[in-house]
Amino acid sequence: MMLRETRDVNRESLTTRVCSGLQMNGNVSRLRSHDSRYLCNMAEDLQITAGTKTEQYQALVPQIKALMEGESDLIANLANMVAALKEQFGWLWTGFYLVKNDELVLGPFQGPVACTRIKKGRGVCGSSWQQAKTLVVPDVEKFPGHIACSSASRSEIVIPVIRNSEVVAVLDVDSIQLDHFDTIDQQYLEHLVALPSFP
Ligand code: SME
Repeated sequence: MMLRETRDVNRESLTTRVCSGLQMNGNVSRLRSHDSRYLCNMAEDLQITAGTKTEQYQALVPQIKALMEGESDLIANLANMVAALKEQFGWLWTGFYLVKNDELVLGPFQGPVACTRIKKGRGVCGSSWQQAKTLVVPDVEKFPGHIACSSASRSEIVIPVIRNSEVVAVLDVDSIQLDHFDTIDQQYLEHLVALPSFP
């Protein structure tokens, strides 16, 4: 019974695009909150904003918070975060590497296929992990040991995700433009990676 009800409402929500993550129409709101969570945390109506970099982040951050609200699954939250960032900014590559044992292992990402494992201290990602600090690389060719997952990447920023004083992941963003990232990106991306709960 519940399955049929959910399927019916879901079909309607797809046609009327009511699932904004926050706003529900009558059909969806009749569901118990447990059920509506599955129907409404959708990114199809992400609002893409024009304007300065700061204005774009300011519009995007609350939307990413709304996407993660009520969702405890780490991969789901990281996946939607990188998708929203990619939609807004169109960077070449946006994704997470997760610390697993003594390596970074590829996590949710948007962009070309990438190397799956990176050792501590290797490349920009492994260096950010080792130093536990954000690295802004204006020209990847000038970063000793840079790992070129894509030859189209020209500049990069890597933000460590720190929980209980330990780096548990890094967020890596690549651009096809030289010198693309600055302290504004650093400020907002550091804010964003602080949001999801890591188990
Ligand atoms: N350039 C990174 C490797 C990861 S990819 O860019 C997705 C690095 O040097 O660590």
